Amino acid sequence: QSAATNSPQDQNLLPYRPRRLRSSAPLRESVAETVVRASDLILPFFLIPGEGEEPIASMPGVSRLGLKGFLHGLERALNLGVRSVMLFGVLPDSAKDERGSSAADPEGPVPTALRAARAAFGNDVVLYSDVCLCAHTSHGHCGLLKETPRGVIIDNDASLPELARMALTHAEAGVDFVSPSDMMDGRVGYIRRALDAAGQTEVGILAYAVKYASAFYGPFREAAHSAPSFGDRATYQMDPRNAREALREAALDEAEGADFLMVKPILPYLDILTRLRPQTHLPLVAYQVSGEYAMLKAAVQAGVLEEPRAVRETLQAIKRAGADLIITYYALQALEGEWL
Ligand code: PBG
Ligand code: ZN
Repeated sequence: QSAATNSPQDQNLLPYRPRRLRSSAPLRESVAETVVRASDLILPFFLIPGEGEEPIASMPGVSRLGLKGFLHGLERALNLGVRSVMLFGVLPDSAKDERGSSAADPEGPVPTALRAARAAFGNDVVLYSDVCLCAHTSHGHCGLLKETPRGVIIDNDASLPELARMALTHAEAGVDFVSPSDMMDGRVGYIRRALDAAGQTEVGILAYAVKYASAFYGPFREAAHSAPSFGDRATYQMDPRNAREALREAALDEAEGADFLMVKPILPYLDILTRLRPQTHLPLVAYQVSGEYAMLKAAVQAGVLEEPRAVRETLQAIKRAGADLIITYYALQALEGEWL
């Protein structure tokens, strides 16, 4: 029987031929299920005080920027159709202390950039800002430390007012969505209440809801000078082995008032995004993190991957898996090179 099915004549009886829908580029485009648009992308910026441009060795093509460089980069991005940017502050060690006081400095690089971006581009740009203490604390942890009989721990509840102060500083500077990335319990609700109490009801929250304790943040920590000086982040960021816990974290952040939910990193966690999609009606954000970017760049530089195709494929995969928005260091390069 199998010999008979293999004969050319019998093959003509095949009723289902999926290849018919792949026979030309225009046809493939017309039946494509996924489209990545410029307005899906969120471009991150690393901002330093004052002026300057410092290339980041582990992230070829990405630099820390002073105010002028930021405004120039933002204008380029807007001209390419990007609508959204995520701002990170980078401070010298001399500006750091145990409590991360500089996080709430209205003259810091992020509030300064927020005011300037708003003044220059009004509501043509959607402004997101990372809210976390790790770039501001001398110990590099995302929350405050506390001595206990069990050793030094990250003090969840004492960290919340500091995070809220930082969020309020960004709100006053004109941010659209503060984006807490610290992974303290209850911080979305705490920040929501603090914003509302201050009359900042229009400012929303993009919650880093599902953030894994990942090896893929290494280049970011070099870029932002935010590596922990001791220990790791495993007591607050999630264990990569857990999926149900991700759904729980996301449900809590939604209940606390988040406007967007994020999954991060993304390529090793596409299953999490796909499982989260039917649980919520909030828009989902995926973060293609620094290590994912560095990994692609390294493979391209080694001559083993074709950059436009590889980058396009990752961004399409992230959207196909369920993302509405994608934070990616590739946003400018992908649009400028017309890789999408
Ligand atoms: C700060 C923060 C980190 C990232 C975003 N916000 C680093 C960390 O948690 O150590 C990582 C982003 C990236 O790797 O691109 N909490
Ligand atoms: Zn942090």
